Parts: sequence; C-alpha cells; structure tokens
Amino acid sequence: RPRVTMSSRPPIKYVSGMPILGDFAENWENVKRFQARADDILIATYPKSGTTWMSEIVDHILSEGDTVRTKRGAIYERVPFLEYAVPDMPTGTERLNLLDCQRVVKTHLPVEILPKCFWDEKCKTIYIARNAKDVVVSYFHFYRMAIVHPEPGTWEEFLQNFMEGKVAFGSWFNHVKGWWNARKEKNILYILYEDMLENPKREIHKVFEFLGKKESEDEVEKIHQATSFQAMKNNPMANYTSVPGSVMDHSVSPFMRKGICGDWKNHFTVAQNEMFDAFYRKEMADTDLTFRF
Ligand code: A3P
Repeated sequence: RPRVTMSSRPPIKYVSGMPILGDFAENWENVKRFQARADDILIATYPKSGTTWMSEIVDHILSEGDTVRTKRGAIYERVPFLEYAVPDMPTGTERLNLLDCQRVVKTHLPVEILPKCFWDEKCKTIYIARNAKDVVVSYFHFYRMAIVHPEPGTWEEFLQNFMEGKVAFGSWFNHVKGWWNARKEKNILYILYEDMLENPKREIHKVFEFLGKKESEDEVEKIHQATSFQAMKNNPMANYTSVPGSVMDHSVSPFMRKGICGDWKNHFTVAQNEMFDAFYRKEMADTDLTFRF
C-alpha cells in the first residue's frame, strides 16, 4: 500500500464530492473495495456526535459483561474506523480485515457515500446525531488537538466553514438529514446524543433491543456505569490517550472534553447565534428531524 509521507495538518481533499482528511483520501480505494459481513454492526455519525460513547456501549453489549474483553484494546482497535488512514498506523480497513469475531465498524461517511456492501449485507446500523451547535464547538476543539486536520483558523472562521460544509465529512445538515431519510428503508436505529445524556439507560435498552439481545437491569446498570463520561475519560482504552502524539495532542484539548449539552453558549456570540439560527431554519426546512440544544 502506498504511504504518504509524514506531515501534520495535511490539507483537506475531496472524494466523491465530499471533503475528507488528506491522508484518508489516499486510502479511498481500499474503502471502496471493503467487504462487509452480514453480522457486522455499523456505527455511523457525523464527527463529534457521540461515536466513541456508542462504540463503548455496543462493545460492552457484545462482551456480555466480560470486563477483561472490553479492555482488550483501545476503542479504535475494538471498533475500527472504516475510512481511517494516517501515516504510521494501521488503516481502518486493515484492522477490520484482520478481525475474525463479529465486527463493529465505525464510519463518518454521509449515507450516499457509504460503500453499498453494507446495504447488500443488510447490516444493522446505529446512527447517532447531536445538535449542530454543540457539534461545531466540539469539532473546533477537535481540529485544534487532532493534528491530522488542517488548522481550524479562528472560531469565527471555523463556524463559517462548518456552515458551508467545508470541514472533513462535509455538511452536518446533509449528513443528519440523509441518514434520517435512509432509516425509512434501511435497518437503522437513529439515536440522539441529547437523549443519551438525558436517560442513558433508556437508550442502552434500545440498543439491546435493536441488536436482538436480552438484557437484565443489572447488566444495563453496569454498562451505564462503565460508559459514563467520567468512567470513559479515566479509561485509557476509551479516551484516545494511546494514539501517537503525531495524531492527537491532548494537552491542547482532551478528547473527552466536556460531554454536555449546551457548551455552545460559551462559544457563540449573540450575533453568531442569530446568523446560525437563520441559516439553520433554511437548511432544516425540509425535514421533520428536530434537536434539543
Ligand atoms: P465534547 O467535545 O463536547 O466534550 P465522538 O466520539 O463522536 O468524536 O464525540 C466526542 C464527543 O462526545 C465529545 O464531546 C466527548 O466529550 C463526548 N463524549 C464521549 N464520551 C462520552 C460519554 N460517555 N458521555 C457523554 N459525552 C461523551
């Protein structure tokens, strides 16, 4: 496999009309060639929407209370990221192809770009969506710390780029609406991050049911404890502290940053909020999908 030379903050590239991290674009052929298996479980999200949280929950469910199993590797090893490719680390497809157990696959791809094999195999898919304002704040801090992204610029500039879909994985609006529409025809459980915050156990029950697994209250309580924000922040297998410093710099901003709803209020000015709300109303006029902020 050709390797790009080590460079931090490579510029965004486009694949199938979607902006993607420069390093990821180099590996795109392998993503297109990927073979899904019928029992694969797909976790799909726009970045910063609770991917890691849901990944940890699903791995706990499949591990049936075996806490040694849930500590067998970092979250990006247990739930490989399909389109991931940065120098000096195995790619997502390499990790996935090596797994001989039931696989949980993470993706940030918009629904229209997801490799067709996942639909051909009728894979169960869990989509998690989070309100746009907290996503853009979380994404800004993530761009700052994960140096595989281009420079985020100022907060004002980043907000503008986010609205225009000029960030990795493109438009949040397109993403959440596209997957929302797809759920009518496909086997998709659509979950909101804010609902998980409000009542994590209720949402964990939903995931059990969707995966066709029987659960006890005791199991749900254990998973709830193990996947709380504090537990995951303190868990080196969940908090991304094991990735090389050439990929993430936690001293700039930790991956497990705040894990709350409403932090956008500490970032948006009144003027930015009014401008964003007006844009949001237009972009979301053609959907019945709603969010809590
Ligand atoms: P913040 O930056 O707002 O804190 P993803 O996994 O999709 O990249 O999303 C990361 C966001 O989810 C971060 O948001 C992170 O703190 C939050 N998060 C991760 N684990 C969580 C948990 N167990 N409970 C609540 N939020 C969590």
